[in-house]
Amino acid sequence: MRRLTVPKIRQRKKDGVTEQPLVMLTAYTARQAQLLDEHCDLLLVGDSLGQVIYGLPSTIPVTLDMMANHGAAVVRGSYHSVVIVDMPFGSYESSPQQAFESASQLLKISGAAGVKLEGGAAMAETVAFLTQRGIPVMGHVGLTPQAVNVLGGYAARGRSDAEADKIVSDARSLDEAGAFAIVVEGVVEPIAIDVTQAVGCPTIGIGASAQCDGQVLVCEDMLGMFERVPRFVKRYEEMADVISRAAATYAAEVRERSFPGEAQTYQPK
Ligand code: KIV
Ligand code: NA
Repeated sequence: MRRLTVPKIRQRKKDGVTEQPLVMLTAYTARQAQLLDEHCDLLLVGDSLGQVIYGLPSTIPVTLDMMANHGAAVVRGSYHSVVIVDMPFGSYESSPQQAFESASQLLKISGAAGVKLEGGAAMAETVAFLTQRGIPVMGHVGLTPQAVNVLGGYAARGRSDAEADKIVSDARSLDEAGAFAIVVEGVVEPIAIDVTQAVGCPTIGIGASAQCDGQVLVCEDMLGMFERVPRFVKRYEEMADVISRAAATYAAEVRERSFPGEAQTYQPK
């Protein structure tokens, strides 16, 4: 099975309809990527790794090095999905040139196929600049976590008419600038519908209803690794319980000297 390509992802939305919804999950490590790869169309090395892997309070402190290194691990662990790496806060906003420097580093080090960046109309020039120079860009509108200090939190967006109009026009600007797909995060269903109809590229929803052209979740969230997750997350497993149980059993066995047993012990021939 050859790796999917960005144009194939883009093409999945023809004449405004995506026949088969796009499946994306976040991945940060090689083994995780290996396990998710065959089930997904896209793997996103999200800057959510700041919280998920590094225990940071937000995505603001995430660096280009973190993204490049985890991106490389995910590319090494996968052979089918399109791998997209998030551009971290501060690595792209000041100019299209800055964005190109950062994005080209990310692609060189990781081997990923493209980048994702947050923001709407203000980022359109940058999206065009990168796309015209060989770097596919995925947009991200609605709830944009890197703007947490401006937004004041992680509440759903687009509850007022003005905010709703802005999200739709932001998505349109990104689409016109050449974004190959757009993540729509944390918006009420009517906005997800409006955005999806307004743009030629596929929309990928997270907390944005079933009306988008695809879906994404943070992998650890859907695996039940965290106690507190947003309402839009469905927990498909309770992995935290599995891991705690294993650690508790191991600890007990070490303490009572029942591990290691015969089977785990080397003896001279
Ligand atoms: O960083 C991330 O995981 C993301 C997705 C939730 C879209 O941006
Ligand atoms: Na992100």
